Amino acid sequence: MQVTRRSAPTGRIAYVDGRYIPHASASVHVEDRGLQFADSVYEVCAVNDGLLMDEQGHLDRLERSLRELAMDMPMQRGALKAVLRETLRRNRLKDGLLYLQVTRGAYRRDHLIPQRARSSLIVTARNLDPAGYDRRREEGIAVATFPDIRWGRCDIKTTGLLPNVLAKTKARQAGAYEAWLVDPKGFITEGASTNAWIVTGENVLVTRELTANILGGVTRAGVMAALSRAGINAVEERAFTLAEAYAAREAFITSASGGVIPVVRIDSRSVGEGKPGALTLRVHSLYRELAMAEARPLNGNGAKTTA
Ligand code: PDD
Repeated sequence: MQVTRRSAPTGRIAYVDGRYIPHASASVHVEDRGLQFADSVYEVCAVNDGLLMDEQGHLDRLERSLRELAMDMPMQRGALKAVLRETLRRNRLKDGLLYLQVTRGAYRRDHLIPQRARSSLIVTARNLDPAGYDRRREEGIAVATFPDIRWGRCDIKTTGLLPNVLAKTKARQAGAYEAWLVDPKGFITEGASTNAWIVTGENVLVTRELTANILGGVTRAGVMAALSRAGINAVEERAFTLAEAYAAREAFITSASGGVIPVVRIDSRSVGEGKPGALTLRVHSLYRELAMAEARPLNGNGAKTTA
């Protein structure tokens, strides 16, 4: 695959089912159920300045996703943490993203879930220049809205992402960075790969409550924790309409890859004054500070004492 080879600098290493191999030749079987049925779940974790961010939250969510699909953890949590660290070490990652995916494994194609399936684990790591995110944080981004056509269990982080992929691509074609998805009743669910937030005219932070319609973002939870620590209690977990978003004072998105990123335009309308909001930037600092304080250096043993 030419694209993979071109984008894979020499020295990049992937982990696939027990082996560390050159990224360019890392592969799964043609009958892998992740490939055939999106019968697989994943996580994306940020590495900032050599620190693995929100590790516990990501592993908790991974275990939940697997449980909801009656899929086994590919190995115990302690062993998985060791694999994550080793992958990061072999890739010499300082700033970037760690991707991990658990698939149900490779079996003769059959819709029926195989009994006693043995799940497969894939881990990749990639460097990322934080400058791009810093610039988006300084300038703010535009979002474009599209109908949410996804399935009824968006709380499970599966790789069945085609609606998200189509929406994000349409957003980019419309000159926006992210897509915001709108449910049939006119409420925003979330972004294609981010959670959506607004700040009302009364300075209340609003983000959709956790239901099966959205992914429980690890960054969203980290922001909640940081707000509560800072004594910022004007937070509402509820659905908000597109009209409310258009009229918001500020808006932002959260995700592991970007942290907190201000939204300055929704479709053709400016949000507030059309520049990153002061509260949004404060939320970013509070989240970042807490997440960095809780993160562990990659050369540490990674074992959390608070399980
Ligand atoms: N996306 N909502 C959706 C649909 C997502 O795919 C993501 C994560 C989020 C934010 O979750 P978190 O804060 O845990 O990253 C919300 C990842 C980054 C991705 O698919 O690349």
